[in-house]
Amino acid sequence: MTRYEKVKQTLQANPKTWLITGVAGFIGSNLLETLLQLNQKVVGLDNFATGHQHNLDEVKGLVSEAQWNNFAFIEGDIRDTNACKEAVSGVDYVLHQAALGSVPRSINDPATTNATNISGYLNMLVAARDEGVASFTYAASSSTYGDHPALPKVEENIGNPLSPYAVTKYVNELYADVFARTYGFKAIGLRYFNVFGKRQDPDGAYAAVIPKWTASAIKNEEIFINGDGETSRDFCFIENTVQINILAATASDEAKNNVYNVAVGDRTTLNTLFGAIKTALTENDVPVGMEPTYRDFRAGDVRHSQADISKSVNLLGYVPEYRILEGIKKAMPWYIGFIGR
Ligand SMILES: NC(=O)c1ccc[n+]([C@@H]2O[C@H](COP(=O)([O-])OP(=O)(O)OC[C@H]3O[C@@H](n4cnc5c(N)ncnc54)[C@H](O)[C@@H]3O)[C@@H](O)[C@H]2O)c1
Repeated sequence: MTRYEKVKQTLQANPKTWLITGVAGFIGSNLLETLLQLNQKVVGLDNFATGHQHNLDEVKGLVSEAQWNNFAFIEGDIRDTNACKEAVSGVDYVLHQAALGSVPRSINDPATTNATNISGYLNMLVAARDEGVASFTYAASSSTYGDHPALPKVEENIGNPLSPYAVTKYVNELYADVFARTYGFKAIGLRYFNVFGKRQDPDGAYAAVIPKWTASAIKNEEIFINGDGETSRDFCFIENTVQINILAATASDEAKNNVYNVAVGDRTTLNTLFGAIKTALTENDVPVGMEPTYRDFRAGDVRHSQADISKSVNLLGYVPEYRILEGIKKAMPWYIGFIGR
């Protein structure tokens, strides 16, 4: 039995109270779905900056009424210390996902990204410390590797940040480390590498590549590749990300106060990704005939990204269940339904 299976059994036998910040977003709403299905009590905090009520409504339809009644939603902002205090009251485990994502957004408006991702994050840390939570698991980012050239990426070797967003996610790690040393606080940083799956927002200027291309392909709109298409990423299906959050929150004390890569250990180019989306949509009776349009490289983007996941495997018992093609296959029917709604 994997550690994940064991932890799920233990949680079901002995339910805990979780706080998910950013619960109306992509990753937050997927965490909510799994935790409610495991009969956990969940408090959610979100200000709908980039998240949506329809994500919460969808989760409601996927769990039983009794499970949904275990969820309490607070509409509030992590920049407001009172909202943070209220949300964390009585909570065992915090999964802190709320932040403004997107490298280009942070280049266009660094101050707003800083306010949420650093000041808001610090508010959550302080509130969680004061409440004495058992653990504080937070969304870090592969952008922290910045210009470090080594591949695959190993947690200990990072370079200079290439965007304001990357600075904020690195500062999160520094604060978690200082809170551990100063207050004996238990935090775990999860450096996500390009997570994808259902409920990832395809709309808006800052949409991520997989939902953006999928929506454009379904609507027969032009698809742009920034650069020559040989830029590569370690795309990580959402189910793997949910797994590692639950493993991290419940990890042994020795595994806490660390950062972990969250990926699969594969490297997929944008050209390959385009082909994979095309094939998966065609298999779902949405034939895609178009070819992509190439344009300039985008500022702040790293060229290649691939994780070494051995630390996550060894210390957390993480076993990614889905590689990119399996994840794309699972995600496409949801996008076809969502775009055609
Ligand atoms: N998706 C990825 O590939 C990826 C990669 C690296 C890191 N991350 C990090 O993972 C986390 C979740 O990302 P996501 O992809 O689900 O994005 P998302 O935009 O779907 O979710 C973020 C959620 O946080 C909420 N939020 C933003 N500012 C807030 C504030 N001030 N107060 C309260 N709520 C606020 C948003 O409304 C949204 O629901 C973020 O911290 C992001 O930086 C994501």
